[in-house]
Amino acid sequence: MTIAVIGGSGIYHPVWLSQVTTETVTTPFGAVAVTRGWLSDEHSTSLFINRHGVDHHIPPHRVNYRANIWALKELGADMIVATAAVGSMNQAMAPGTLVLPDQFIDFTKNRESTYFDGGGGLGQGVVHTDMTHPFSSALRRVLVAAAERIDIARPIEGGTYVCTEGPRFETPAEIRAYRLLGGDLVGMTAVPEVVLAGELAMGYQTLALVTNWAAGLTDAGLSHQEVLDLMAANSQRTTRLLTAMLQAGLRERRD
Ligand code: HPA
Repeated sequence: MTIAVIGGSGIYHPVWLSQVTTETVTTPFGAVAVTRGWLSDEHSTSLFINRHGVDHHIPPHRVNYRANIWALKELGADMIVATAAVGSMNQAMAPGTLVLPDQFIDFTKNRESTYFDGGGGLGQGVVHTDMTHPFSSALRRVLVAAAERIDIARPIEGGTYVCTEGPRFETPAEIRAYRLLGGDLVGMTAVPEVVLAGELAMGYQTLALVTNWAAGLTDAGLSHQEVLDLMAANSQRTTRLLTAMLQAGLRERRD
C-alpha cells in the first residue's frame, strides 16, 4: 500500500524521505515532477508532489490537478494525504488546529474537475462517481493514531471543507452564507483533488491546518503572508505527523 503526499502551502520538501529522486511523469494532461524516496524503514518508498511548485508560484486555480493525480496513480500510489491551509468558520477549530474533514461543498468555478469528459480513453461514456464518503476514513484513523504516538494534539476528525475558486479570499457575506450551509473550513484546493482521486479509485484525505479565522470573523483583514507565517510556524508538527503516519503505513481496507 503506497501512500503519497501532496504538499500544500508551507510543505515544499518531503523531509520524511531519504535518497530522493525526482522524475518527470508525462500524463495526458501535462508533465508533472514527482519525488520518490525511501521511508525510514527502508522497506518501502513513498511519493511526493509539491502542489504550488518549489517557490510557490502556482496559484490554486492554476494547479494542474488532473496531471498531478494521474501521475501519482501511474507511479503506483494507492492513497493520498494532501496538506492544506484553511480558514475556519467554526469556533471549535481555532488557528493552529489540525482538522481531517469528511465532507466538502464545491464552490469552484473554472477548473477541470473530471477524467470522465465524455471523450475517448478514460472519458468514454458517462460516469457519475459516488461522493457519499469523499474523504478516507482509513487515512483519518491512521493520522489520528500517528498523532497519539508522537504526542501532538489530536486532529479534529470530521468537518465540512468549502472549496472556493480563489485566488482572492472571501467576503464576510460569503463566509456567513457558507456557515449557514454547514461549512466549517474554507480553502482553495481540496476540490477537484479529492474528486479526481475518487475517479481513479484512490483514497484521499485532506490534512488541513487552520491558519486564520475566515473573513469577517475578526476585525482584521486577511493576508496571504499571515497564512504562510502560520504554516511555517506549524510545518514541523505537520511533517512529524506525516512521517509517523507513513512509517506506520496502512494495512487496512482503503474505505
Ligand atoms: N480562505 C480560503 N483559503 C484559505 C484561507 C481562507 O481564509 N486560509 C487559508 N487558505
